[in-house]
Amino acid sequence: MNLKQRDKKHLWHPLKQHQLQPESIAIVKAKGCILTDEDGNEYIDAISSWYTCMFGHCNDYIIDKAYKQMQQLDQVMFSDFTHEPAIKLSEELIKILPKGQSKVFFNDNGSTAVEAGIKMALQYYFNKGEKRSTFLAFENGFHGDTFGAMSVSGLSVYNGPFENFLIEVKRIPTPNGTNHEDILNQLQSFVSNCDIAGFIYEPIIQGAAGMTIHDADGLNEILNFCKKNNILTLADEVMTGFGKTGKYFASDYIETKPDIICLSKALTAGLVPMAITSCTQNIYNAFLSNEMAKGFFHCHTYSGNPIACSAAIAAIELLQTEDIQNNIKRIIKSHQVFNDHIKTHPKVKSTRQIGVIFALDLNTKVQRYGDLRDKLLKFFMDRGVFLRPLGNTIYIQVPYVISKKELQVVYQVIEEALEIV
Ligand SMILES: Cc1ncc(COP(=O)(O)O)c(C=O)c1O
Repeated sequence: MNLKQRDKKHLWHPLKQHQLQPESIAIVKAKGCILTDEDGNEYIDAISSWYTCMFGHCNDYIIDKAYKQMQQLDQVMFSDFTHEPAIKLSEELIKILPKGQSKVFFNDNGSTAVEAGIKMALQYYFNKGEKRSTFLAFENGFHGDTFGAMSVSGLSVYNGPFENFLIEVKRIPTPNGTNHEDILNQLQSFVSNCDIAGFIYEPIIQGAAGMTIHDADGLNEILNFCKKNNILTLADEVMTGFGKTGKYFASDYIETKPDIICLSKALTAGLVPMAITSCTQNIYNAFLSNEMAKGFFHCHTYSGNPIACSAAIAAIELLQTEDIQNNIKRIIKSHQVFNDHIKTHPKVKSTRQIGVIFALDLNTKVQRYGDLRDKLLKFFMDRGVFLRPLGNTIYIQVPYVISKKELQVVYQVIEEALEIV
């Protein structure tokens, strides 16, 4: 039996209707931008395995640092102990995070980074003796699959069974350059009628919504409104963090900085899972008390895992190198050339780009998980490129180390795919 057949016996894959969708492809090796399957077929990973492996798969520099760490200290509880990798990571991260961030709290994945952020905001007010239980979020946002994260996510097509168990959320549209007055009026009416603790947002670009980009000035006005009304602001940079938008963080495009930031995915460059929820000193101070119960009693067993920390430190070092920054600039320029070429194609409805992220919307209607989407996915895989359309959006989010030649192959298969839709 090959891996594909053995997989079917005991495994249950995420985001999959096993009765309808094709079997999973068994990957046996990954290096740089290339994934290799059990039959020896190679695929360019054009979405960096869900935006994680930004420095390429099995990056030697990161592996070496993690391996050295593994031989020294593997895992130790982070509630009673501390260690150099966590301390160094916090120091290096705070240096590059948007201004105002002061404390680093460890989690396991993007959803739990968001979950901890939501709990921090709710408990911040609880500790101050103020009852605030509502959240504010964008329509069509995606923040993860745990209960708090599901609640604030506006993409709820698959959340039906859980709707009665979610926390209270008010939604606003994303700013588009012309609707900010309406949004501010809506916000005013929300604050008059509800007790809003925090506003969570994917800054500048909403990933799962189809890589949709919104207006930075409009977002800044919303954040200013929140600050004036003591609504804590939570930037979900799980997807956007660590250089993808052309700056270290998408929040760097916005003047008003968040109180809380959620990080994961490229944090450890795809080597091992880890996430962080960072916050300002003001938030942290609200948890300092003579009462034990005012502390933040939220913990995951692998909090601050030393190996994950060492991978994250190595990734931050790489991000700041001239080589990687030049590569990012090269990819941005290359996307611009492709954009100019493809945007007038009759099958293309619209295109957009920020940093290494490029997206185009097809003129054709495609269901999020439907036949045409599966056909497109197969079309790309058959031509050696891993791209995963979101509804009628085809997007690229390539590793920073992609070669010019590999990137041209990605563009080429997208152009060819336009002929089959
Ligand atoms: C913006 C954003 N937040 C949170 C998450 C959830 O992260 P995870 O899948 O690691 O739980 C994602 C995942 O795609 C995301 O894009």
